[in-house]
Amino acid sequence: MANLLTGEGRIYLIGMMGAGKTTIGRSLAERLGVIFVDLDDALENRTGLTVAEIFERHGEFDFRACEAQVLRDLPRKYPDAVIATGGGAPAHFDNVAFMRQSGTVVYLQASADELIGRLAQQRAERPLLKRDDWEAFVAETIAARREAYGQAHASYRVDGQQVDETLAGLLGELEQVVGH
Ligand code: S3P
Repeated sequence: MANLLTGEGRIYLIGMMGAGKTTIGRSLAERLGVIFVDLDDALENRTGLTVAEIFERHGEFDFRACEAQVLRDLPRKYPDAVIATGGGAPAHFDNVAFMRQSGTVVYLQASADELIGRLAQQRAERPLLKRDDWEAFVAETIAARREAYGQAHASYRVDGQQVDETLAGLLGELEQVVGH
């Protein structure tokens, strides 16, 4: 396995929306001296539409197809990178297998209560949370994605943590995975 801690290779961060993949991913990339890529941003750049617009105009199936395609182009474009994936990416097609083959997959694991607390203020930009029963939806979605998230090479629990705590803990976890 490439030595991630010296900035070689690819790290995919997976986990639910609100788990902190983008924030942590950006800090981790900076720490490792590699580029940071956000799959949702890459998809928006490719289509010229926001994630919310893709859901509204084309529906979730087309969003997932496009997401899978953009994901497959990343390794060629970014040999060394930290990649934050959209929360649903590992649960569709064979995306998680693809990630496992092309990098190290790390699950940022948050409980439903933690996510509900974090997401309450950010529901507007998130198409899947525009529903009255969004809290139940968060809990059900974690359960539905458990198997996909469970395929990560490593998991890290983020409940109650600030960004710097998660970053430090995650670096420790990565050292173990990589066998530094
Ligand atoms: C989704 C998560 C979002 C985005 C889309 C669908 C999901 O990404 O891809 O709204 O299915 O969980 P983040 O996890 O980066 O918010």
